Amino acid sequence: MEEAQLNVVTGSFGYTGKYITRRLLAMGQQVKTLTGHPHRPNPFGQRVSHAPFSFDDPDRLIASLRGATTLFNTYWIRFPYGQLTFDHAIQNTKTLISAARQAGLHRIVHLSVSNPSEQSRLPYFRGKVLIERAIMESGLSYAIIRPTVIFGPEDILINNIAWLLRRLPVFALPGGGNYRLQPVFVEDLAEMAVGLAQQNRNLVVDAVGPEILSFAQCVRLIAAAINSRAAIIHVSPYLMHLFSLLIGPLLGDVLLTRNEIAGLMANLLISHGPVTAPTRFSDWLKHHAHSLGRRYACELDRHYR
Ligand SMILES: NC(=O)c1ccc[n+]([C@@H]2O[C@H](COP(=O)([O-])OP(=O)(O)OC[C@H]3O[C@@H](n4cnc5c(N)ncnc54)[C@H](OP(=O)(O)O)[C@@H]3O)[C@@H](O)[C@H]2O)c1
Repeated sequence: MEEAQLNVVTGSFGYTGKYITRRLLAMGQQVKTLTGHPHRPNPFGQRVSHAPFSFDDPDRLIASLRGATTLFNTYWIRFPYGQLTFDHAIQNTKTLISAARQAGLHRIVHLSVSNPSEQSRLPYFRGKVLIERAIMESGLSYAIIRPTVIFGPEDILINNIAWLLRRLPVFALPGGGNYRLQPVFVEDLAEMAVGLAQQNRNLVVDAVGPEILSFAQCVRLIAAAINSRAAIIHVSPYLMHLFSLLIGPLLGDVLLTRNEIAGLMANLLISHGPVTAPTRFSDWLKHHAHSLGRRYACELDRHYR
């Protein structure tokens, strides 16, 4: 009998990594995860082994990757916090890519972002293009997937919009709210990632759902789905950032950074290519409105505590 292939997935206890892991296990493949939280409850039990990232110990990282054929890389940071900057995240990812090559892996399936650009003034989008280039130059076979906003039960942005709409009398939209989003479902993304792992050719593909909504439409859709009576108002991006700075500490979190507001308003979370994922955000919303935004999803709890 053919031996099950070993895959390394970053963040199997996190968001997208968990969905990728589930699909790989369902296909009878083996999964090992690299994570910053090796002591978190392992939802997969004995079926998924784990190792810490150990970016500062490349030999250990190479040893953790040895024996695998494919690396599914989701590692990235949303914003700089504490000692961790985007430059560190770039360096860590380059260390991981180099370790994968030295450990003899064949292919990397990498999650990037829609519309990354070296000219971008947003470090999230600029850093992503530098990582893409490092992958292309690594000698590994690659599939680079560029998601827009990923929706699903564990998502932060959509969930926390609903959380705010449930609790506050007023919801503030930065600017006119007519900048657009083209959300992609986390299950569709995981299916795409696992499917592209089976191919050999190098490719770069957007992960985008079929629906394009303005941010204002998206917020109104969520408000209607959860029966929120919050008044939706428009504020300047500056005021929005101020509001985030005030409310963040009350939540023990960073709600939205200035760069995230700018990214949202810059129409970067849409694709200029074909639709690649079938699930409509509005359909998903109808079936998940009851649970959406019941609990605040805290970025700092997920990654810094
Ligand atoms: N979520 C979205 O809407 C969205 C949209 C476009 C692109 N993407 C990209 O898709 C990929 C996966 O996103 P996700 O939301 O599913 O991420 P996630 O599961 O929350 O995190 C992915 C991995 O990065 C690690 N990580 C995240 N933030 C970190 C931090 N501050 N310090 C140290 N490690 C950190 C996590 O570590 P642990 O294993 O310790 O949790 C995990 O291994 C990322 O590359 C992201 O840029 C996401």
